[in-house]
Order: sequence, then structure tokens, then C-alpha cells
Amino acid sequence: MADNLPKTSVRFENIEKSFGSVQVLKDFDLEVEPGEFVVLLGASGSGKTTALRILSGLETPSAGRVYIEDQDVTNMLPKYRNISMVFQSYALYPHKTVAENIGFPLKVRKVSKQEMDSAIVEAARQVQLDELLERFPRELSGGQRQRVALARAIIRRPSVFLMDEPLSNLDAKLRGHMRAELKHMQQSMGITTIYVTHDQIEAMTLAHRVAILEKGVLQQLATPAQIYNDPANLFVAQFIGSPPMNVVHGSLEGNEFVTQGVRINTQVQDRVDKAIMGIRPEDCSVAPPSEGTLTGTIYTNELIGDHTLVTVNWGDDQISVKAPKDFTGMQGDDIGLVIPSDRLFVFEQSTGTRIR
Ligand SMILES: Nc1ncnc2c1ncn2[C@@H]1O[C@H](COP(=O)(O)OP(=O)(O)O)[C@@H](O)[C@H]1O
Ligand SMILES: [Mg+2]
Repeated sequence: MADNLPKTSVRFENIEKSFGSVQVLKDFDLEVEPGEFVVLLGASGSGKTTALRILSGLETPSAGRVYIEDQDVTNMLPKYRNISMVFQSYALYPHKTVAENIGFPLKVRKVSKQEMDSAIVEAARQVQLDELLERFPRELSGGQRQRVALARAIIRRPSVFLMDEPLSNLDAKLRGHMRAELKHMQQSMGITTIYVTHDQIEAMTLAHRVAILEKGVLQQLATPAQIYNDPANLFVAQFIGSPPMNVVHGSLEGNEFVTQGVRINTQVQDRVDKAIMGIRPEDCSVAPPSEGTLTGTIYTNELIGDHTLVTVNWGDDQISVKAPKDFTGMQGDDIGLVIPSDRLFVFEQSTGTRIR
């Protein structure tokens, strides 16, 4: 069924949204390609849900336009937009079976019983619930319930799927499993999807492209690899990555980042009095004290399993490094850190702008 649905593009154009004096979305522009999976990532309160509600028609923008497949839908009622939304709290009807829950949107539309039955079986098959159609919600696991909610969204044959933190009520293990299921389902059905989350791992693993939102302002829209390897600014650089990117304060003099009397080679060239150097923990390496780009003191070691996370005090700064799992340094030892110039980022301190 869903395999031959037409794929649909979506476009937010210069969207502004305020609630009273609170500006929630600022000049928000986002174009989603047909069949694309875009994840809107941001902290709580950054405006993610508001963006979805504007697209679905539950909320009206203060300014700007919304398009679905080149049609201006800014003033169109929600029911004509052909969008399905899946929420974090996937309220199922407790006294209805899985089949009745899945079929509910069609019942409201008054389609024939025969048509409805085959649509239910098909939607259930998409989310691998076809064996469980006669069960009640209380007889299902959390992940199975979430799949019922998905099937109920699929059965409407939407042109666009909106998902608002759909996995955040599940425990960590189930969340990982459902993430893979969702990705598989979206790939095979190819329905244009906008997925909202505050979880960077979900964003990085699910998305074709990630849109990072902070305080209602889109910071970067790019593939997960671009977001990680080529962040647009300091906010994006620090938002993605675990543990987060190390930041060191100093100045940029020509192509050298200068801090605590050490000059570190960079691949940029400028003169910035207050600059920030960023380096990811896995891009630094440990070395004997005399062989490092800089020398510090081990503050603590944590064996994570496949690596040891070493936190090093260096003057007023602290730098975390992913060292080999058999790393043997001890707390208080002097240690060298090698910082390769092609892996470090430089930002302007006041604005967070990336210096390239
Ligand atoms: N209906 C509303 N009335 C007033 N303020 C709202 C309303 N909806 C959202 N907000 C405010 O808008 C901001 C963004 O909310 P939201 O879009 O829900 O963020 P997110 O989904 O990223 O957590 C928050 O500060 C929130 O309090
Ligand atoms: Mg929200």
C-alpha cells in the first residue's frame, strides 16, 4: 500500500511565531525533500513542537508561509492537510483491540468493512504487529504499543508523517530497538517525515538531515556527518557529541591559536583577540609529557569499555581525551596531549561564529 504513495515535499518559509511577547520561532526556513527524514533537534523549549503544530495546522504562524508539495497551506484546516502525527503519549483506546485501535481513523471516515480489514492487516504488517491484532493494549509491551500508534498513523496513508518525541517514554533498550524499526519503516515506505527530539543520538541515527534549533532559530541543517564534522557554529559543535567537544579559551594570531603560553597550529588564518578552540575527545591523543602539543595533569580516568576517557587539567582548562582501553596513566601524572591541527575548530568567542 504505502510503497506507491506519491512522495511529498514540505516547506516552511520565513515563519515567525510568538505567544504574547514570547518569540518562539524566528525567521524559520526549512525545506524537506520528498521522502526525506528530517529530524528537528533542540533542547526543551526551543520551538520544535510549535514548528510541527504549525505544519499540521494546529497552530497559525504569526508571519510566513507553509507549503505542502508547492501548495500554500498556511490557512488550510488541519483535516485537509493529509498529515499524520505521532506523539510521545500514544494514547490507545484500552477497551479496543489492536485491530480496532489501528482501524479507528478509517472508522471515522466510514470506509467499508472489507476495505478497512485489509488496510488494518496491511498497516499491522508494516510494523510487524500482524500476529497481535486481537490483543488489547494492556497485553502489549511499550514498544508494541508504540507500534500500534504508528500503524494507526500509517493507515491514514498520510503524505507527511510528523513525530513528536515518539520514543521518549520507552526505556533505553527498547528505544534503541524502536529507533532501528522506525528507520527501517521510513526507508521502506519513503513517507516524508519530520521527527522531533531532544536526543542527539536519535537525531544522528535516524535523519537524512538534522535541523538544529536553538531558541527558535535554526542553527544548521545538514546531514549527520556534516553536522558532526563541519559544525556551523559553537552551539552546534557543543550540542552534538558525547562527551561534548572540549573548548579552550585563547586568541587566534595568524594561523596559531595562543593559550596559556602555548601556540597551537591551526588551519585557519585570522586575528581574533577572544577566540575559542574546539577539539573532540576522540581527536586528541595521549603522549609522553615531552611529546604533546601541550602538557597537563591527569585529573581522572574512566574505563568505558572500548576506550578510557582521560580528563586532563591544563591550567584553568580541562580537556577530555579518548585514550586506548589499556591506558595505564594514574591520577596526578603529567601527560602530553597531541592536538592535530586538521581536527581542531576555531570560533569567535562573543558570537560563536566558526572561523574558517
Ligand atoms: N500555546 C502556547 N502558549 C504560550 N506559550 C507557548 C505555547 N506553546 C508553546 N509555548 C512556549 O513556546 C516555547 C517553545 O515551546 P515548544 O514548541 O513546545 O518547544 P519544544 O517542543 O522544543 O520543547 C516554550 O517557551 C513554550 O513555553
Ligand atoms: Mg516539544
